[in-house]
Amino acid sequence: MTAARMELARVVLVAVTMIFAGSGLALAQDAQAAQQVKLRQSAYTVLGAQMGLMGAQASGRAPYDANTFRVAAERAAFIANYVPELFPTGSITPNSKAKAELWQQQGEFLRLMRDMRSKMATLATTARGSDLEVIKPAFAAVGASCKACHDKFKAD
Ligand code: HEC
Repeated sequence: MTAARMELARVVLVAVTMIFAGSGLALAQDAQAAQQVKLRQSAYTVLGAQMGLMGAQASGRAPYDANTFRVAAERAAFIANYVPELFPTGSITPNSKAKAELWQQQGEFLRLMRDMRSKMATLATTARGSDLEVIKPAFAAVGASCKACHDKFKAD
């Protein structure tokens, strides 16, 4: 091989190595994003299940049971305090329904999170009693706070 050819072979080898290293990094990032989205959607699924249970009782579709309602409210409040952490930058995949705007409008996004958490805390406190007429509006306020964010930052 001539020196020029050897140099060319070396350049090609370096370039190919860089491409593989680059795609390896991209794959690792994709896997991490997929994992983050999965965790977030799972947490929301648990949150949604508690809301479903409470909603059935609040609307009369299921009989009101103070104990199961209170437990659901406590669980929901616990998860509500956790979900704000589940939106790290770059945690977006085709599978995610999160709109990219939420990372550009962090102030508004976090305000909606805070609002949901405070409504949820009120619901959990209210649910320690067993007056459904007091619980119902507290539950409705939580539902509205979920919807406010979904309307803005979640794709249908
Ligand atoms: C501040 C914003 C915000 C608030 C508040 C919020 N959500 Fe969401 N929610 C999202 C976003 C964004 C997604 C999409 C997540 C994804 O697909 O990556 C989502 C997804 C979901 C999902 C679908 C999960 C899945 O498997 O695809 C459920 C269920 C859900 N939220 C329930 C709730 C409930 C119940 C509340 C209120 C108690 C709530 N959310 C409050 C932003 C919010």
